[in-house]
Amino acid sequence: MTSTEEVPVTEHKATGEEEDDEDEVTPWLVSSKSEKGVNYDKLIDKFGSSKIDDALLKKFEEVTGKPVHHLLRRGIFFSHREMDQILEIVKKGKDETVKEGKLKTVEEGKLKTVEKGTPFYLYTGRGPSSEAMHLGHLIPFIFTKWLQDTFDVPLVIQMTDDEKYLWKGIPLEETNRLAHENAKDIIACGFDIDKTFIFSDIENISSSQEFYKHMCQIQKYVTFNQVKGIFGFTESDCIGKISFPAIQATPSFSGAFPKIFSGKKDIPCLIPCAIDQDPYFRMTRDVAPRLGFKKPALLHSTFFPALQGAQSKMSASDPNTSIFLTDTDKQIKDKINKYAYSGGGSTVEEHKEKGGDCSVDVAFQYMKFFSEDDDRLAQIEKDYSSGELLTGHLKKELIGVLQKLVGEHRERRAKVTDELVNQFMTPRKLKYDY
Ligand code: TYM
Repeated sequence: MTSTEEVPVTEHKATGEEEDDEDEVTPWLVSSKSEKGVNYDKLIDKFGSSKIDDALLKKFEEVTGKPVHHLLRRGIFFSHREMDQILEIVKKGKDETVKEGKLKTVEEGKLKTVEKGTPFYLYTGRGPSSEAMHLGHLIPFIFTKWLQDTFDVPLVIQMTDDEKYLWKGIPLEETNRLAHENAKDIIACGFDIDKTFIFSDIENISSSQEFYKHMCQIQKYVTFNQVKGIFGFTESDCIGKISFPAIQATPSFSGAFPKIFSGKKDIPCLIPCAIDQDPYFRMTRDVAPRLGFKKPALLHSTFFPALQGAQSKMSASDPNTSIFLTDTDKQIKDKINKYAYSGGGSTVEEHKEKGGDCSVDVAFQYMKFFSEDDDRLAQIEKDYSSGELLTGHLKKELIGVLQKLVGEHRERRAKVTDELVNQFMTPRKLKYDY
């Protein structure tokens, strides 16, 4: 279940969470009592990950030879596990190739690793529980596309149709169909067909011995006590749920994909996702050394807020809580005008006198996620905070940005045929050498 979809109140509460803590972040539930949403600095401490600081961003730029993506620059991807090591591997590979005279050039800010093999691979995923994905779901995929282009690396995308059957009771045939539907939205983000494998759990597990063997190994070395501690499972949870974390852990190991990675078992893995998915990968990183596997590295993002503000949840069953990729221009306009929580004054006079609060204003937050123009964003922040820019004007600008983004996505998605989906979902050697 997603961080942003409606969950029954009786859903799991991770027992590892402190009772008096205001924020709750699990793969099934994200909630905060603060108007500003989750306190991410506290979360870093609680989860034991590392903050993405200026030094890491600088290293990113040094290694890739281009500016970092705005989602990194603006702190939306805010936390990581061992990203520094991934950059070190890329840097080392690059130095060695340069020494050996193999690397021809860094073309247009793109590292060419063709002759050297891949320094790492990317892994991300989607739980296909609804026909339409919302803007929040798009964040990790937009960012993963940038990572794939920047590092020129292969990517595997897991569609957990099994998870949505287990948690939401959606029939297996339907979650499997939704996996293929959602794959169209993912493909429309522009992933390179030669370097990307998308797979449904239902289809892949039954046809890949190596995937299943890796799952069994993980299942053998993680106890019920451990998953109880990490995920808050109880004795009344079905055993499908209890063993599911092993399924989400498995793609972190290249050996699980013999066709894709030519049997190579030690390719480092980097996982971009929102921080709600971290519990799965804490477990994965814990078990990896016991199996002689490499721990996956992670990049975590904050949450794209619901229209009603950072405290509320986006819900697939309430279309007015978010913008969906299927929304028309008119729906986008109406939803933003009607529902986007404003941090501005309640009257024009009050707004002009006291200014607006960008930290809670949903229109400003959405601009931060989706407007690529840094100068314009800084200007908006200044003018909105001083009261010069009115809420209505800010919303109007956001509507333009989102109509363009969703409109372009709609056009690209319309071109994605079932045949293309099948090509992306066929196990095959991805294109690079080693
Ligand atoms: P799912 O379908 O809940 O979410 C898909 C991806 O979107 C992220 N996400 C968000 N990011 C920003 N703002 C939001 N409001 C928001 N809501 C969701 C999620 O963190 C996720 O990255 N179990 C997973 C599927 C999965 C997976 C993975 C995800 C399988 N393997 C590996 C990431 C990495 C799920 O149900 O995702």
